[in-house]
Amino acid sequence: MPVGPLIIAVAARSSPLKGENVKKSLILFVGMAVFAVVCVVIAGRSFAADVPLPPIGDLTPQIESYVNKLNEGIADLDGTKDYKADSDSLIKDASALMLVALAIGLSPEDSQYKKAVPAIIKACAGFKTAGTYAEAKAAVAGIAQATQESGDSSTLSWSKIVALKPAMKAVPVVNSGVSRNMRNELTLKKGIARVCEGTATLAVIVHGSIANADETIKPAEAELWKKQCELFRDMALETNKMAHDFEAGNVSFGTLRSQYDKLNESCDACHEHFVGGGQVN
Ligand code: HEC
Repeated sequence: MPVGPLIIAVAARSSPLKGENVKKSLILFVGMAVFAVVCVVIAGRSFAADVPLPPIGDLTPQIESYVNKLNEGIADLDGTKDYKADSDSLIKDASALMLVALAIGLSPEDSQYKKAVPAIIKACAGFKTAGTYAEAKAAVAGIAQATQESGDSSTLSWSKIVALKPAMKAVPVVNSGVSRNMRNELTLKKGIARVCEGTATLAVIVHGSIANADETIKPAEAELWKKQCELFRDMALETNKMAHDFEAGNVSFGTLRSQYDKLNESCDACHEHFVGGGQVN
């Protein structure tokens, strides 16, 4: 027997209240309990559904792509004298990979990597703390292995899982890839998949950075930081949607191009507040 009705039943027996009053309290109690359950369910749903995300089909290929990049990057560092000093770019890729994985884990859509997300995030976190080349090499192998694992994604949330600096450094790298394919209609037709994947990645890196307000130069302005991140995320999602429409033949190159120009302007909108000296691109 659930605890609530049990308490009411015991109260009813020992209470001097008349039967009618007990019945009223019981109805009130059950009503409140149902209301509470409904509230919890609604809150849980909207928490997940409130975050607009790109199509998961644009994120899934990024897992393999970042794992390959990390493998190539670690191979390039073979023989390095100072792993810590040389590992900046790898840490940046690992941070982007973590946020892409988190978005896959939290997406309402399914992906072959969904169950592997907790293991991928854990392996990347281990990689980021590697102090030597040997440790880093083993950790990269661990990330590749993690993509095959099967865990529980249901406990994931948009909490802080990366450091702000490497995540922000990943943004211009992804954006340059998109930019190269946006040069003209011909490059876009060839590179449309890269543009869809790149804009999706930009959206989730910046959304995932909302949790890092305390690491910005204005830690007291968490609300403004969140707003800037969301504005950029939504602009990236709009560009992503338009890129899919271009692929389907429903939107012209010119329209997509001007949307992409707007996306680039919104980089500066955030930098105006949160990067010392303003514009950096
Ligand atoms: C929500 C805010 C925000 C948005 C949107 C944003 N940036 Fe940044 N960006 C930052 C912050 C904060 C830093 C500084 C990170 C640090 O060094 O701690 C930064 C750093 C940079 C840097 C310097 C990286 C380095 O290697 O030192 C470049 C380049 C850059 N951003 C380009 C871009 C581009 C291009 C876009 C748009 C496609 C963009 N940013 C969108 C906040 C933002």
